Amino acid sequence: MFKKISKTVLLKLLKWVETEPRGSAVKRGGENAWEKEIFIPSPVVAALSVAAFFVILLLEVGFVWVKVAGLVLFITMVFAFFVVYLKYDIPELLADGEAMMLLGLLLTSSVLTMQVMKGWPLAVPIAAFVVLTGLLLSKRLAIISAIVLSLVLGILNDFGLEYFFVHIAGSFTGVTFLSGIRNRADLTRLGLKIAAANVGAILIIHMFGLWSLHVLKINLIFGALSGFGSALIVLGLLPYLENFFSRTTNIKLLELADFTQPLLKRLTLEAPGTYHHSLIMASIAEQAAEAIGANSLLARVGAYYHDIGKLSHPEYFIENQQASGNPHDPLAPTMSSLVVISHIKDGVALAKQHKLDKVIIDCIEQHHGTSLIHYFYHRALEQNEEIKQEIFRYPGPKPRTPVAAILMLADSAEAASRTIEDPTPGRIRDMVEKIVNNKFTDGQFTECDITLHDLGSIAESLIASLSNLYHARIEYQESVKGDGQS
Ligand SMILES: [Fe+2]
Ligand SMILES: [Fe+2]
Repeated sequence: MFKKISKTVLLKLLKWVETEPRGSAVKRGGENAWEKEIFIPSPVVAALSVAAFFVILLLEVGFVWVKVAGLVLFITMVFAFFVVYLKYDIPELLADGEAMMLLGLLLTSSVLTMQVMKGWPLAVPIAAFVVLTGLLLSKRLAIISAIVLSLVLGILNDFGLEYFFVHIAGSFTGVTFLSGIRNRADLTRLGLKIAAANVGAILIIHMFGLWSLHVLKINLIFGALSGFGSALIVLGLLPYLENFFSRTTNIKLLELADFTQPLLKRLTLEAPGTYHHSLIMASIAEQAAEAIGANSLLARVGAYYHDIGKLSHPEYFIENQQASGNPHDPLAPTMSSLVVISHIKDGVALAKQHKLDKVIIDCIEQHHGTSLIHYFYHRALEQNEEIKQEIFRYPGPKPRTPVAAILMLADSAEAASRTIEDPTPGRIRDMVEKIVNNKFTDGQFTECDITLHDLGSIAESLIASLSNLYHARIEYQESVKGDGQS
């Protein structure tokens, strides 16, 4: 057991050392072979965290057996609470070894910080650990962490309810504004908000006459320091934790959305048709994700990268073919379909080579699911009626998340909309409804947690976005004609 854990820690450290600095053009990647091999089961992580918690708190309570027994019971209660909560609310996180390692690390280091900063309980940056939990794991889990950590801090400081109250106010403020975090400046502003909440809570407690004016002044400074300190800690640790624990935050997604990223740059230069298709798809997929409450930023960035595999042979894809002719003409339909299908494998390979995040690789891999390439299949049928349909199907996997399902539909809808001669809203509606129905009856959403209601909302969003897009285009063309320009 110890050997396995040592190996894991060593491999993680090696990976950390190898990691590109944040902001560099090349990002860390999806799963390497050795990464798949290593896995610390959640119970082991929980046991290690419990042990760390116990040692830290034992130093505080002393070696009196009644207190030690109380400590054991308290820690058991806290961890049972976490396990039960995770099991019933976020089971996928409980099964994720890396996520559990991260949670254990955040909880243990926050308790260690409380112990180190004993004597300045209001200055402890509890909100930093809560915000990190919210950004890297789950917002709901961050709320639970806020309650538990504020409680532990209160207990560690003579069962002081005032400390619990102040840190709950700061941490909850941090969690409340988490959705709006998109860059480093937002994190700095979040620090200000946490500091303001801490100061507000301290002033409220002062109204109960708990502190003298002198103590109040010191507490206000500590409360403000806790807020600013939390922002600094999050800013400093976030890039390393993201890399080390393979998490993808909105900040990371926005970095990937930057068109100076090498793969996106290549797309603009080497496959301009695919680049244009990805841009429009990103815009309509983002709207569709918003319509069902899915991660709209992931939908946008996933769309930017979904077809990067076409960079291997851009001329074999219709959006990049110009007057030079269609290279599929001399090929047999089976060969054509192989070339087209290969953009998934090539895309995944390119994404891994450029160390893109796993969530983006999933978008690349799943955006066609196991769909049939109708055009080449029907061409093949004309030549040989015995031909097997499987040869003309993408290898999958089928979409496994609502965002992947949205990308599949937005991709088809964008491509099909370009083939409509006069794209009136009625024709766009017919086309989108047909695509959604076909993908559904083809069983493309059987591995994805998406409802019929969601599919209806996605369809309506795609219809509205594409209708607006073509309406704006027609209006622009008419106004250009009216101006006598071309
Ligand atoms: Fe594609
Ligand atoms: Fe596409």
